[in-house]
Amino acid sequence: MIVKLLLDRKREGRELAPDEIYALVAAYTRGEVPDYQMAAFAMAVCCKGMTDAETLALTTAMRDSGDSLSWDDLPLPTADKHSTGGVGDKLSLVIQPLAAACGLGVPSLTGRGLGLTGGTADKMESIPGYVAGLSLADYRKVVAACGCSLTVQTGEIAPADKKLYALRDVTGTVPSIPLIVASILSKKLAEGAGTLVFDVKCGAGAFMKTRPEAAALAKALVAGAKGAGRKAVALVTAMDEPLGFTVGNALEVQEAIDVLKGESGQAARSPGDVVELSVELAARMVALAREMPLDEARALCRARLADGSAWTRFAEMVRLHGGDLAAFQKELDKVPPPRLVVAAANGFVAAIDAQKVAQAAFELGAGRAQATDAIDPAAGVRLLVAHGDKVSAGQPLAELYAPARPERLAVAARLAEEAISVSGDAPAARPLVLEVVE
Ligand code: URA
Repeated sequence: MIVKLLLDRKREGRELAPDEIYALVAAYTRGEVPDYQMAAFAMAVCCKGMTDAETLALTTAMRDSGDSLSWDDLPLPTADKHSTGGVGDKLSLVIQPLAAACGLGVPSLTGRGLGLTGGTADKMESIPGYVAGLSLADYRKVVAACGCSLTVQTGEIAPADKKLYALRDVTGTVPSIPLIVASILSKKLAEGAGTLVFDVKCGAGAFMKTRPEAAALAKALVAGAKGAGRKAVALVTAMDEPLGFTVGNALEVQEAIDVLKGESGQAARSPGDVVELSVELAARMVALAREMPLDEARALCRARLADGSAWTRFAEMVRLHGGDLAAFQKELDKVPPPRLVVAAANGFVAAIDAQKVAQAAFELGAGRAQATDAIDPAAGVRLLVAHGDKVSAGQPLAELYAPARPERLAVAARLAEEAISVSGDAPAARPLVLEVVE
């Protein structure tokens, strides 16, 4: 293989053969193709795109750069949900145990967050003792025992993606649908679930800002997953406003626990959007994996949430990961009182800017700018109002928690004030699910 000739052809927009792409990725993973050539390849793909066949070849080549898990020994249909990431997105914490309680095996490798807020692994690690970094052998044992496990992805899964993503991140080559699809799908295919449900977030607080971009990614993910022999569906869902009332690691875990227990906990009320979207996404997993009509799957998910069996699965998963939920509750009780953000005028909550709320959470210590930065699990924002609520001047709108960096409260309060728009007119209701791609 002469890499320069492949680069020439890709630059001219010509199609590469699957075995050429496969050989390129394998050589890059072995360290035989330098970063500058792979960066040139990524840029050529960004500018010229890829055919479906090329995208599938890139996906399978990256999948095969590491281990692929098989769940044939698990006597259950398997499914997983992947979210492209949004503000306050704690849905995995509800969906994985809920789908497990509905009779699925849910192998779900997850990530730590780099950016404004933590990833699912960071959230789970705010539970004292919880070990997110299990070996693949221990991860398999947890899935076999309780149906689900929120474990951080190990280096054995799709190492080519890890290497290529780091390169794309610094060469302006992240925003390319074929590269994103290959990156997401290579990992999901290697994890081995038979059904994949994608939650493609769309809006100001999401990676995909516009409806056409989000729909294109959703279609490409579903086509790629089906092309690789999996059952798949994607939902394009709204991400202009945060999901639920909380943004921050321990706060989000607490909110997910409240949803699983069917309580509103410390919040004034239950986060209806988290419940609705969790049930919808879990029902899609159940319907596809168990070949059940969607309405029946929705009813089953609602029943398993209401009868406490999803909560039991979550508590068991946490115990098997070494986590201590009683200690988690004690830690929360020790957090100093929050700073309040109050309404400046009477009116209705017209919009809550997800990006600004995430920036406020970051200022408070809930995210990390570099992989080595520490996260403060207790830091974050709890909204006290939702879209469309009637509010009066002086009414508290949000609580800000920053036990480790109180000096950042003032700047976070400004961001939170800007994030919550109050207007004289009641706003229209917001749909959560914008599009379904099957
Ligand atoms: N998430 C991924 O895993 N990969 C991308 O390329 C973009 C988002």
